[in-house]
Amino acid sequence: MDQSADVKSIEKWIEELDQFNQTPGNGTTRPVYSKEDMEARGYIRDLMLSAGLTVNEDNMGNLFGSLPGTDQSLAPVWTGSHIDSVPNGGKYDGAAGVFAGIEALRMIRESGLPHKRNISVNVYSGEEMSRFGVCCIGSRALTGRLKPNDLKSHKEPAGKSLYQVLKDAGYRPDAFESEFPHKAPVYASLELHIEQNDVLEKAGCSVGVVTGICAPTNLIVDVYGVQSHAGGTGMTARRDAFMAAAEISLLLERLALESDSVYITGTVGEMSLEPNAANVIPGHVTFSIDIRSVALEDKDDLLEKLFAGMQEITERRKVCVEHTMMNHDKPVICDEHIAEIIRKSAADLGIPAMDIVSGPYHDSLILGDITKVGMIFVPSKDGLSHNKAEWTDTGDIAKGTDVLAKALFQLANEA
Ligand code: GLV
Ligand code: MN
Ligand code: MN
Repeated sequence: MDQSADVKSIEKWIEELDQFNQTPGNGTTRPVYSKEDMEARGYIRDLMLSAGLTVNEDNMGNLFGSLPGTDQSLAPVWTGSHIDSVPNGGKYDGAAGVFAGIEALRMIRESGLPHKRNISVNVYSGEEMSRFGVCCIGSRALTGRLKPNDLKSHKEPAGKSLYQVLKDAGYRPDAFESEFPHKAPVYASLELHIEQNDVLEKAGCSVGVVTGICAPTNLIVDVYGVQSHAGGTGMTARRDAFMAAAEISLLLERLALESDSVYITGTVGEMSLEPNAANVIPGHVTFSIDIRSVALEDKDDLLEKLFAGMQEITERRKVCVEHTMMNHDKPVICDEHIAEIIRKSAADLGIPAMDIVSGPYHDSLILGDITKVGMIFVPSKDGLSHNKAEWTDTGDIAKGTDVLAKALFQLANEA
């Protein structure tokens, strides 16, 4: 293929998408199914149509922009990523992969070279967990990990259920059971994403060939103590919900630090105190726990120690703890055949590439349930992501897109 990715288009699309943002000037905030997310979907849909793709949307809002192949009896090849964001995040997380996919399909179409399989660039709804406490709701629906009951039990902090939010956004959540999981086979999935760490930058590589994706385990923990007076209640008499939550958080950090699992992480990113007043001992605290690893057994081991420690802390502090396990996902090993195609495509294009493990999860982690998956990483400046300073050189995204187009073309021509 003689075509190469157009840096200027990718740059322009990334800036244009960022208009759909709740916090302009303070990073990108685009929660799934928010007004901004819905407007951003409209923008992507128009872009897909103008790239000559056939666009479809399911009732979770997953978008599919398809380029037809010559043999409709064969299963399609998928690419794509997400366009929702964490609060005050960056404009490359997810968007880079969606635009790389659209650009790769333009290149393949304009090359005029035939490919057998349909190739579809997809936007998966709600990859970030920030609105409903569970990640990748779009890809989870496609693979069957999201169950019909989850629509009503998964709620945003304000209390509205995923079911209601979908309805308000104009989707038909009542069609969920008949529509999901996705019925037709998928031949392969190949997602481009920013690295969100500094391994590629330090190694001077424009492309990472992902060999495995760490998986998240997410819990919501409620600690119930006794709300009382900050001055009146002596230090030994109090049953402080926050101090118990703080001790559990520090225990999580210590267990992750002490684990000999290389990729394990433990994070408390959200905490709310009731009644949240300076002179009141908190009576109720809710917080999140996020644990990642590339080995399920390492997460299980950490969880066992965490639960034992939580029991000891709650007894000693005379508080009660309840937890809800939102997800306990298994990591995925990327398909070696796809990884080899990516390595070879990069080598043919003279682009330096290296193997890499993904600490963050991606929709590809979930899609691994229904198809073989591969991922291409492009460098993140200073390794920063989920931060308004997140930055990736669009020249690197273009190089990653060249590799993506070549690899997709090859996969789409496999029998
Ligand atoms: C994805 O955004 C993650 O948190 O890994
Ligand atoms: Mn993210
Ligand atoms: Mn992402």
